[in-house]
Amino acid sequence: MYHSCVIKYASRHCGQASAILSQHKLGHPLDTPGLQTLVYKEGSAVKGVCIFGVADGYVYRLAVGKAYQRQGVGRALLHRAMFVLHDDYGVEEMSLNYQTDEARGYYANLGWVVDEASSCCRLKLT
Ligand SMILES: CC(C)(COP(=O)(O)OP(=O)(O)OC[C@H]1O[C@@H](n2cnc3c(N)ncnc32)[C@H](O)[C@@H]1OP(=O)(O)O)[C@@H](O)C(=O)NCCC(=O)NCCS
Repeated sequence: MYHSCVIKYASRHCGQASAILSQHKLGHPLDTPGLQTLVYKEGSAVKGVCIFGVADGYVYRLAVGKAYQRQGVGRALLHRAMFVLHDDYGVEEMSLNYQTDEARGYYANLGWVVDEASSCCRLKLT
């Protein structure tokens, strides 16, 4: 079941979503053709953002506001991205390149297969 707080990005989310990326010294255009952006929004607060390619399942960004970490926001965003990719686009695998040991640990904990040689994590979508 989808988490009801996870919705498609719209331009009204731009300020808060950009601020979350900036908190983590990340940047990325939020509305790129061929990519989909999801936000986790509760009330008026955008708490997290996930940007991924709909053709290849590559996750470009996953970031959760520092005040909202460890509350299941990242998990909910990834979960919804999995279903969008598999059900709407027929994508069979998600992948990403992690930048930090913390991120590697996070994805390993969620069941992604980690390849340390390439700093790549993969998850089969079934
Ligand atoms: C990494 C990040 C996306 C995690 O999001 P989050 O919403 O805080 O994580 P969740 O609450 O969804 O955690 C899901 C599970 O992972 C665990 N977890 C969270 N952070 C973790 C970490 N750094 N290492 C290992 N496990 C972690 C949680 O305990 C939880 O497990 P549980 O359900 O068994 O308790 C977030 O901390 C973040 O934005 N970090 C900075 C940017 C970044 O590193 N992005 C990823 C790079 S691609």
